[in-house]
Amino acid sequence: MATVIVIGSQWGDEGKGKIVDILTQDAHVVARYQGGHNAGHTVVIGDQEYVLHLIPSGILHPDKKCMIGNGVVIDPAALMQEVEDLEQKGIRLDGRFYISKNAHLIMPYHLALEKWSELSKGDRKIGTTGRGIGPTYSDKMARIGFRVSDLLYPDLFRKKLKSNLSYYNPLIKALYRGEEIKAEPILRDYSRYAERIRSWASDVSLLIHESMNRGEHILCEGAQGTLLDVDHGTYPFVTSSNSTAGGACTGLGFGPSKVDHVIGIVKAYTTRVGSGPFPSEVTGDLEQRFRSIGKEFGASTGRPRRCGWFDALVVQYSVRINALSSCALTKLDVLDGFDPIPICTGYRYKGAMIKEFPTESAVLEACEPVYEEFPGWKCSTVGVKDFQKLPEKARNYIKRLEDLIRVPFSLISTGQKREETILIGNPFH
Ligand code: IMP
Repeated sequence: MATVIVIGSQWGDEGKGKIVDILTQDAHVVARYQGGHNAGHTVVIGDQEYVLHLIPSGILHPDKKCMIGNGVVIDPAALMQEVEDLEQKGIRLDGRFYISKNAHLIMPYHLALEKWSELSKGDRKIGTTGRGIGPTYSDKMARIGFRVSDLLYPDLFRKKLKSNLSYYNPLIKALYRGEEIKAEPILRDYSRYAERIRSWASDVSLLIHESMNRGEHILCEGAQGTLLDVDHGTYPFVTSSNSTAGGACTGLGFGPSKVDHVIGIVKAYTTRVGSGPFPSEVTGDLEQRFRSIGKEFGASTGRPRRCGWFDALVVQYSVRINALSSCALTKLDVLDGFDPIPICTGYRYKGAMIKEFPTESAVLEACEPVYEEFPGWKCSTVGVKDFQKLPEKARNYIKRLEDLIRVPFSLISTGQKREETILIGNPFH
């Protein structure tokens, strides 16, 4: 039995979907532990492309159990849409899909609150995905949020909604001159969602515990990335959950001693969506090149991603925060035509060299990247399955990354498809 956590080691969009899909082959259970439908995981199987936002991509394997933990926030409308899309493609969920009764629900007023909050920030806006994630986690912490279990008790749901609206409506009117939010349409829609969600609502922590006791393999699927973690990321330009490895324990309900392996997904260069500091960012033609070759557009919002060179300080920091056991390197093939290929190995801040990643956004914004340059290999690596078959210059680039981050690569991805992968080690064994 092994419990493996998959996390993003940069600012999200590292290609976790594909790695999770590969690791799922060995897992019995795949579980999401934080975030919501702000995430977007793209998985290509044969000629079919699937984009999943909320449901673990393990659902594409018919014999796997998939769970959504208490640490996740769920927009029931988005969930229903995703379920419908999967069912239309012939994927069956009932009997193997479970949602924690303690997971929180995104409510329609959360979307409105987020929109106004972003507008009020002007040019310091976070650039959120607009999915209501932040206000839902705020309500959770303020202890006025709705849990999935509230859907099962219609009278209590109604009372609680009226109480929340009597708190929010005057605020909405006074602060944003927004229209009053009415209870009835929400009650109507959420009672309809409850009919379907009822059969999936479970004690996910208990299910995972039982699964562990049977000696099964558990795969915990993180969303976003370490630098978007609300505690350890580039605050305030972060998401509102713990996207780091620790989030798996609190977001699913098991203790840290149950974790056997933490695998960090590392893109061969760096991207970020939304606002906030990004020292190794490039601009102009170079950025356009990254974007078009790497298809760097958000899977959830379609927004163009900001692109830049590999930043070793970011990943070293991620290794520390998550205690990474190994890494999976993704999108190596995107670099095939680039020459030279710089790696950021330090920052210059107020004339001095910094070797540790600073977490204050104001410091990071003032940091200048210091690069080491590598010659490009200028030939295709697409579909290579054996490390020794990579061009020597690509092998040197990878070895230098490994030296810098001081963690071995257990997988290297050389294309979008499952089989376009160099398998070096298996985190489950
Ligand atoms: P939120 O999660 O919608 O509140 O957005 C907060 C920040 O996290 C914004 O900069 C988003 O662009 C970023 N973000 C949220 N989810 C993802 C993701 O799945 N990939 C990359 N960035 C994300």
